Amino acid sequence: MSNRTQNKVVIITGGAQGIGFGCAEMLAREGAQVVIADINVEKGEAAATAIRVQGGEAVFRRVDVLKESDCAALADFAYQHYGQLHGLINNVGYYARVSLEQTTTELWDLYLNLNLRSAFYCCKFAIPYMQKSGSGSIINIGSIHGIQPASNIVAYGVAKGGLLSLTRSLAGTYAADRIRANYIIPGWVLSESEIALHEGLGLPEAELRAKGPSLPLGRHQTPQDTGHTAVFLISDESAQITGTIFHIDAGATTLPLR
Ligand SMILES: NC(=O)c1ccc[n+]([C@@H]2O[C@H](COP(=O)([O-])OP(=O)(O)OC[C@H]3O[C@@H](n4cnc5c(N)ncnc54)[C@H](O)[C@@H]3O)[C@@H](O)[C@H]2O)c1
Repeated sequence: MSNRTQNKVVIITGGAQGIGFGCAEMLAREGAQVVIADINVEKGEAAATAIRVQGGEAVFRRVDVLKESDCAALADFAYQHYGQLHGLINNVGYYARVSLEQTTTELWDLYLNLNLRSAFYCCKFAIPYMQKSGSGSIINIGSIHGIQPASNIVAYGVAKGGLLSLTRSLAGTYAADRIRANYIIPGWVLSESEIALHEGLGLPEAELRAKGPSLPLGRHQTPQDTGHTAVFLISDESAQITGTIFHIDAGATTLPLR
């Protein structure tokens, strides 16, 4: 540990598991005080406890990011609990493989709200506290589908594309307040939801894991792979970086088209 995020107070939505937890763990290891915000109370409490057991500082807050009042209360809680707020990672997100014709209005709204409206809510209420704290760093967890359309993941792609636009808008609007915003594109992480989604499509976990060696850099990614970049972006090492896309996608976008 080299204290790269010492005393930075950071909210991580969907921090109970997967990529969100990987970010929380890495940030706490570097000295950050993390607020794990998740709808799953059992896993959220366990995640915060695991970080504290490792010697880090973490607290759990039950939040449904689909509710504006929950997101407002989350920002209030983080600021009151730690006295400052420097970071926000908008990580909650989900997708399903459905074509445009199969996308119902309910599904469209769900993916847009979960992946995009949630980030708008969290930014809206966190930014005033970052302004009071003197600086801030917002990380939006995007997707390759936000920049490269796929025919069977339309609503998710539109939402993640909107999230990129939100990122750039935040970067331009709040630079004078020393509040930065960046967009991370993670690679393929076999999180619980990713495994469940593929099992639903008839691909068992063992077969999914067997694909690792054939990926461009030879393995699936871990949540910590994204966590390393989150540490850099929350830390002052990235003080001059804003409005940018970070490809942690193991070269997926460099592959020649077949
Ligand atoms: N897994 C991948 O391969 C991959 C690749 C690219 C991008 N991403 C993106 O990374 C992010 C995290 O993905 P993951 O696979 O780690 O997810 P995950 O499903 O493992 O974890 C998501 C977390 O969000 C929480 N959550 C869900 N709905 C919520 C709500 N309404 N309010 C609060 N919390 C809620 C869940 O309880 C869970 O803890 C997503 O935005 C996803 O789109 C994932």
